[in-house]
Amino acid sequence: MSRGTALITGASSGIGEAFVRLFAAEGFDLVLTARREEKLQELAADLPATTKIVVLPGDLSTTAGITTFCESVSGQSLEIDVLVNNAGMMVEQGFANLTTEQIERTITLNITALTQLIHQFLPAMKARKSGRILNVASVAAFHPVPGMDIYAATKAYVLSFSEALAENLRDTGISVTALCPGLTDTDMVDTSVAGAMPTFMISQPDEVARSGFDALMNREVICIPGNVNRLALAWSQHQPRWLVRGLGGLANKLTPQR
Ligand SMILES: NC(=O)c1ccc[n+]([C@@H]2O[C@H](COP(=O)([O-])OP(=O)(O)OC[C@H]3O[C@@H](n4cnc5c(N)ncnc54)[C@H](OP(=O)(O)O)[C@@H]3O)[C@@H](O)[C@H]2O)c1
Repeated sequence: MSRGTALITGASSGIGEAFVRLFAAEGFDLVLTARREEKLQELAADLPATTKIVVLPGDLSTTAGITTFCESVSGQSLEIDVLVNNAGMMVEQGFANLTTEQIERTITLNITALTQLIHQFLPAMKARKSGRILNVASVAAFHPVPGMDIYAATKAYVLSFSEALAENLRDTGISVTALCPGLTDTDMVDTSVAGAMPTFMISQPDEVARSGFDALMNREVICIPGNVNRLALAWSQHQPRWLVRGLGGLANKLTPQR
């Protein structure tokens, strides 16, 4: 018997794909979205035949794309029990070099889409007095990251918004979890960056998805996968902000610019 329906954004690769496989293995039906429909269809074909799957491709980095996606979900009359806001993007060539379009798309995908999807599904969850929301933030949400300026700022929004919402929804039957991974081996991470790091500092997508899933089921508000990431954040949160951002700035200067 199905444990409910989970809608997963950014389902076509990386942590999102790992979530898809895990939710299917745990007995959930799925609604999958991302831009690359063929990747979603391939993934859907690889899941257990017992999993009911709806593939709804879309671009969530424009407000028009978000509206179209919300309309197509409504058109399917789907009851969403779990919303996994995983889709995200990072642009990294230095703020001054970014185009207006790159800036808009990053903010729209990382912030607006996540916010609007919660706004879309929350009323039905409230009426049912049940629901779970998982928002993928990052360890970068906890402090400024020079060199990932906009990305880290969007993830700070995700963490702050998730915590506020979790508190607002306390005792309603609806939980909100912010998943804050550290460096994870996915397409988002430049291979030269990942290759320069010791392996113990790099998580695998399936480990991150498992931590997020368990935290979601336990209705935890913040989940930081990996001992190394938890230790680093515990240290940084007891340092003055000038020191943390200064170290980030130094690391950025020492990183080869592409
Ligand atoms: N990798 C890390 O080190 C790391 C660390 C902390 C947090 N995170 C977060 O983890 C989440 C997943 O990222 P990942 O590392 O798994 O990277 P990824 O493999 O690049 O996955 C990103 C996903 O987002 C989708 N996506 C990108 N642009 C989109 C758009 N315009 N509209 C709709 N979907 C879009 C992509 O699908 P399509 O290209 O098919 O659209 C893909 O499925 C992100 O929120 C990221 O910020 C990653």
